[in-house]
Parts: sequence; structure tokens; C-alpha cells
Amino acid sequence: MNILVVGGAGYIGSHMVKRLGQLGCKVTTLDNLSAGHRDAVLCGEFVQGDMADKALLNQVFAQGQFDAVMHFASFIQVGESVQEPAKYYANNVVNTLQLLDVMRAHGVKQFIFSSTAATFGEPQYAPIDEAHPQQPINPYGRTKLMVEQVLADYDKAYGLKSVCLRYFNAAGADPEGQLGERHEPETHLVPLVLQAASGRRAHISVFGRDYDTPDGTCIRDYIHIVDLCEAHWLAVQHLAQGGASDAFNLGNGNGFSVQEVIDTATQVTGRTVAVQEGPRRAGDPARLVADATRARKVLGWQPQYADLATIIAHAWQWETRK
Ligand SMILES: NC(=O)c1ccc[n+]([C@@H]2O[C@H](COP(=O)([O-])OP(=O)(O)OC[C@H]3O[C@@H](n4cnc5c(N)ncnc54)[C@H](O)[C@@H]3O)[C@@H](O)[C@H]2O)c1
Repeated sequence: MNILVVGGAGYIGSHMVKRLGQLGCKVTTLDNLSAGHRDAVLCGEFVQGDMADKALLNQVFAQGQFDAVMHFASFIQVGESVQEPAKYYANNVVNTLQLLDVMRAHGVKQFIFSSTAATFGEPQYAPIDEAHPQQPINPYGRTKLMVEQVLADYDKAYGLKSVCLRYFNAAGADPEGQLGERHEPETHLVPLVLQAASGRRAHISVFGRDYDTPDGTCIRDYIHIVDLCEAHWLAVQHLAQGGASDAFNLGNGNGFSVQEVIDTATQVTGRTVAVQEGPRRAGDPARLVADATRARKVLGWQPQYADLATIIAHAWQWETRK
């Protein structure tokens, strides 16, 4: 297959590009490097540019003859989206609409979208399946839900087929050690804990120990980056085989608390992790765990690395790279 990966220089996109290369696909990455890294794009063609640049998009599509587009490019920080919503609506919604319209103009009709657990908002039950109401509580989550809604309308009106993959917490790194998480600033728990273990960071902050969970810290569902990429590959095959547009929650269905992540990181690394206690953060639910039964049933998705210690070991290999 011939696939355009938008945002392919970022954390998740770069692992996807590597995987598509291994699968024998022709891959083109479009990324403006606002958060990505050129050296993370290990194969295929690389185009440095912005989704906002319509002329560039038209040129890339005219040359590309793509079968499908995987769209990872967005701004991703929940807190920043509250402070600067305009930035988020412009990039995550307006620029995505432009990408979809250029796709339509060039007759490309298969789209895989990086959505998020943040589209659900405050959990009403756990684990969260696809029937759970989507009531996002921040602009970041709303931008992703809006695109999901646009995609449903574009299917009905234009026959543009899409799969929305709602990730819970992406974590881990390339098992071969070539790629990993390099966000700046880093806001994700696993790399923050490992930076505290390696000494790159003085401590890790734990926000709240009074949640209604066994150890009082928040519980999240960590999904290995390789398993996430496999779901994208299955999703694109689903559409290529004539499957209907759909949305799937992606997680392991096992929640781990912040304290369990710290304890596992301590065991895996053999280092101590300095902890600073902080108050609860607004909008942090106690427990966010996915029910990914539908992805298993419909896509045949079978996570390989559900074990937290393995996820952390791969991320540690990346953190301690030379
Ligand atoms: N990391 C997670 O745990 C997680 C969870 C749920 C959903 N997601 C979603 O997955 C996607 C990828 O996340 P990530 O962690 O890899 O983020 P990331 O910031 O590492 O990657 C995003 C990439 O998109 C590029 N980009 C952003 N705006 C662009 C634009 N206008 N034009 C061209 N390139 C642009 C950035 O330079 C970056 O390389 C995002 O859409 C995010 O919302 C991530």
C-alpha cells in the first residue's frame, strides 16, 4: 500500500512509519517538525511542511497517489488547550478539515484518525467502551470529537471511509531501541518517571493521593506503542477490504496506578525515583480504563505487550540510549 503519514515525525507517527516500512508499504511523511524530529523518520519520503499549506498538500497528493492517509498531526497538551484554545481549534480542527478536503479533491477515501480517550470526558463507568457518552471536558478532547463528527458526515456525504482510534495512554518505545518518546515539554507519566530514574529530572510529581483507588493515585490504561501501530495497520486493512467506517477504543483493559508505574519503574531500572507530592489537578478522573473488545473482535487486534514491565523496559532502553 501507499500511505501518507501526517505527523509521522512525532512519537506515535514515527513508530508507525517504521512499521509501514517493515510491512513493505510505500510511505510518505508530512510533518512541520513543530514537535517532531526529522531523524525519527526512518524510512520513506519526508516532506517538511504544514497541513495549513493547501498548495503544498495539493502538490503532495498530486505526486503521491496514496491509498490511505494516517493522521497523527495535532497539538496534544490538555492544559495548553485550556489556555490557548484557538491554537488547538485551528490546528486540530481547521487544518484537519483542509487535509480532508484535499484528500477528497484527489479521490483518496481512506483515513485513519488519532482520536483519544479525552473525547469521553468524566467516566460514567469503567471500563469505557464505545457506547460510553462522549462529553469532553477540555478543548483538546473537543477538537478530537469534532473531527470524529466531521468524519461521520463526510462518510455519508462523500463516501470518505475512516477509522477513529481512541487511544488511552500511549507508552513504551521501539523494542529495537531506534525510536521513543521525545516530547518537549514532556507531560506523559512513563517518560517523566524514567527521566527521574535516570537523573535527567530531579523528581516526579504525584498529583493527588486521595482518589478512590486502592493506593489513592490515579489509574490509567497504558498501551504499548507497537500494539497501537498494529491497530492502525489492521484498521487500514479493514478499510482496504471494504469495511465500514468505525471507531475503536484502544487500551489493554488493565489499569495501573501512578504509584504502580513508579514501583514498576523502580524494579525495572534498579534506580530510585524521587517523588514530590502535589494536589489533585482539575479534570483528572480517578480511573480511565479502556474496553477494547470491539477492536479485538472487528479488527482482530491482539496486543503483544500488555505487560507494564515490558512497556517500561522498552521506554527505559530509549531513555538510556547513548
Ligand atoms: N501520546 C498519547 O498518549 C496520545 C493519546 C491519545 C491520542 N493521541 C493522539 O495521537 C497523535 C500523535 O500523538 P504523539 O504523542 O505522537 O504527538 P507528537 O506531538 O509527538 O506528534 C505529532 C506530530 O505532528 C506534527 N504536527 C503538528 N501539527 C502539524 C501541522 N499543522 N502540520 C504538520 N505536522 C504537524 C508535529 O510536528 C509532531 O511531529 C495526536 O493526534 C494525539 O492527539 C496521543
